[in-house]
Amino acid sequence: MNIAILGYGTVGSGVYEVLQMNRSYIAKCAGEELNVKYVLDLREFPGQPVMKVLTHDFNDILNDPEVDIIAEVMGGENPAYEFTKKAILAGKAVCTSNKELVSKHGSELLRLAEENKTNYFFEASVGGGIPIIRPINRSLTADDILEIRSIINGTTNYILTRMKGDGLDFDEALKEAQDNGFAERNPAADIEGLDAARKTAILASLVNQTQVECDDIYTEGITKISAADIAYASRLKAKIKLISLIRRIDGKTYASVSPLIINNRCQLYNVDGVFNAVMVKGNAVGDLMFYGSGAGKLPTASAVVGDIVEAAKHRHINVVTIWDPEILKLADIDDLVYSFFVRVPAAQAENAKSHMRIDVIVDAGIPGEFAFVTEPMSGREFKSRSSELEIISRIRAELA
Ligand code: HSE
Repeated sequence: MNIAILGYGTVGSGVYEVLQMNRSYIAKCAGEELNVKYVLDLREFPGQPVMKVLTHDFNDILNDPEVDIIAEVMGGENPAYEFTKKAILAGKAVCTSNKELVSKHGSELLRLAEENKTNYFFEASVGGGIPIIRPINRSLTADDILEIRSIINGTTNYILTRMKGDGLDFDEALKEAQDNGFAERNPAADIEGLDAARKTAILASLVNQTQVECDDIYTEGITKISAADIAYASRLKAKIKLISLIRRIDGKTYASVSPLIINNRCQLYNVDGVFNAVMVKGNAVGDLMFYGSGAGKLPTASAVVGDIVEAAKHRHINVVTIWDPEILKLADIDDLVYSFFVRVPAAQAENAKSHMRIDVIVDAGIPGEFAFVTEPMSGREFKSRSSELEIISRIRAELA
């Protein structure tokens, strides 16, 4: 069976490598040899074996009836959207790591795949090498999923880990993540929480079986997290993590991405570096946790190649995934109850004491300010109590 890889960047070269590295085992799983017939990229790769199969023209792939499966690992919405649509309409299966495309057009592309008796698979779009899409779509169909709580951006988790553990500053840690191939081409998508929001939108769409828009998800990144915040969290024997939350309760769905201060009572506390973890709570199965490398060449390629094998085993047989196009209206996350870690100028200490319900005062030896953690309260109550305060920083916390 012939494969084409669209994009020879970090993930694309990983897909090529994994298909060579595990060739015979993969052939057994797929039922036949998988041969890379084309790699599409605008660049040249002089002296590299990939040159033998390199093309600069997508039509070479589209018009070749021998190509059954396409790995779309170019990222970005365009031209990936057009290429994917054309490939599916031509009856080719598409396997992707492209969370931007899946979060925006997943519903439509799945419908097209169904109509054309082929498949659109996207295991690598969430959590890098962690199997989470197929477990949700195939293994957990007995359950009503009540909550998914996760760390699903490797770059920000890497940055926060390096800032806390090794005292690196933000830019140094980001540079390391980029050098390791974890970050997006434009790392603003990572550090501002957009990448995690896209993945949250995919998971929320799957568990609700209908479209959840990325733009509707409350999203805060880590750009405002400072070394001082991390020092305060350490005083609380806690860490700051970028947490994605999907909670389904009383017929409402909440979805958010935001920094959260957690201690070691939360299983996500020890998920460090580029690792991701996804905790799923089902109403029958209870609590599950999926852990692994959330970004990087070979882990992400592993998920793409797993999908390629699945596509090979389901040639011209659509594996149904329900994802309706109707947009779900998300509930207001200010209903949710958290504690809040707050820093204010020292001059406002009395003001804070009289307006906030303070649980614990925190001293990290930083002069000129007053820091505390509130008792648990809704976001709405926090906003109204803190409206008169000049806040240096505030971070949600779960420390119970
Ligand atoms: N930039 C992403 C991350 C890559 O850091 O998690 C994997 O989706």
